[in-house]
Amino acid sequence: MSALLVSDHSEAPPVNNAVYDVARLRRAFPILGREVHGHPLTYLDNAATTQKPKAVLEAIEHHYIHECANVHRGAYWLSEKASEQYEQARKDVARFIHAAHAKEIIFVRGATEAINLVAAGFGRSLLKPGDEIIVSEMEHHSNIVPWQMCAEQSGAGIKVLPFDDRGVLQVAELERLLSARTKLLAVTHVSNALGTVNPLKEIITQAHAHGVPVLVDGAQAIPHLPVDVVTLDADYYVFSGHKVYGPTGIGVLYGKREALERLPPYQGGGDMIRTVSFEKTTYAPLPARFEAGTPDIAGAIGLGAALRFVESVGVEAISRHEAMLMAEAKQVLSDIPGLRLIGTAPHRAGVISFTLDKVHPHDMATILDRQGIAVRAGHHCAQPVMKHFGVPATARASFAMYNTLAEVQALGAALRHVREVLRP
Ligand code: ALA
Repeated sequence: MSALLVSDHSEAPPVNNAVYDVARLRRAFPILGREVHGHPLTYLDNAATTQKPKAVLEAIEHHYIHECANVHRGAYWLSEKASEQYEQARKDVARFIHAAHAKEIIFVRGATEAINLVAAGFGRSLLKPGDEIIVSEMEHHSNIVPWQMCAEQSGAGIKVLPFDDRGVLQVAELERLLSARTKLLAVTHVSNALGTVNPLKEIITQAHAHGVPVLVDGAQAIPHLPVDVVTLDADYYVFSGHKVYGPTGIGVLYGKREALERLPPYQGGGDMIRTVSFEKTTYAPLPARFEAGTPDIAGAIGLGAALRFVESVGVEAISRHEAMLMAEAKQVLSDIPGLRLIGTAPHRAGVISFTLDKVHPHDMATILDRQGIAVRAGHHCAQPVMKHFGVPATARASFAMYNTLAEVQALGAALRHVREVLRP
């Protein structure tokens, strides 16, 4: 095992209910100690991907060094061990989002694949011409394009739930949009471009009153907020592992048992069948029915470790810490002349988007990078959001459990520098 990955108990994360010790917590993330362009790394692009704690790197390394085998296929010790760890990760996910059963957790590549899986199932067997799907105006392209593709295939139409100029969903509009034709509502929990936290319980209750199932894109909520899919009563809830301190290439589709069972299999192949013959093939029960082929075993194990790590810090404690960073960021950025916040909803999490008068966001991000500060600039895969605000792009700072007030202040100072350098 490499020196980097050797555990050191003095570097364990803070425990639930302990004082939130961010300096100690940062030591659990090896990359946070590095420099970029001669400056300490200030990583503020956590909505794109989060950094990984040693616990995750160690879990992956442990699997490959000590327990590497395929799952659900071997009657030998190593395969049984790998299967046990893979299924433990499924239980970790179920516990983390408070699902009723581990079999309601399907491992996929990420939130995008999870949405494509559900959309493909609806397009292939549940939609007919004239049916409608509602999506919100603030969705990531991942929660728009799969529905457009399935609408094209089935002859269904798309309706859009708008947001107002603060970036707050106009939930009252739902009553006008929902009808007997509506077959599904797809909505994000937290907007990746605006940070808006949507009133999911209210939205889901309203949709269910019309008999409409709801798919929630939880990719930007899962690292910031406690998620309880049963209390929310979400029919489908999806997220990516890499945005919650896990590895890339692994993600989750949660579905209520009956919501998953009404979907046809997504991909055919090994492990998703009960019997195969040239006359007739029958499919395996959940969750195997949707996990054709060898899954990302190490990825799932890494995700399980990530969720346990988050639990050891405490989701509520992380939420409180990040709320403090958001409040500071709002204050610091509002004091910069020419800076416009894009998205001012009262309830936001994790993300703050902005433009700077006469400075292209890409130039801004490049100059910030020279000072070691990583932010994302662009349309954030949410072009309808950019269109709403009449901008081609924004710069976006996004926070994680390990960011500090000093980093937020460094962002403010660097933005003042950008203004001086680029002011025409
Ligand atoms: N969806 C990711 C983001 O918002 C990549 O940056």
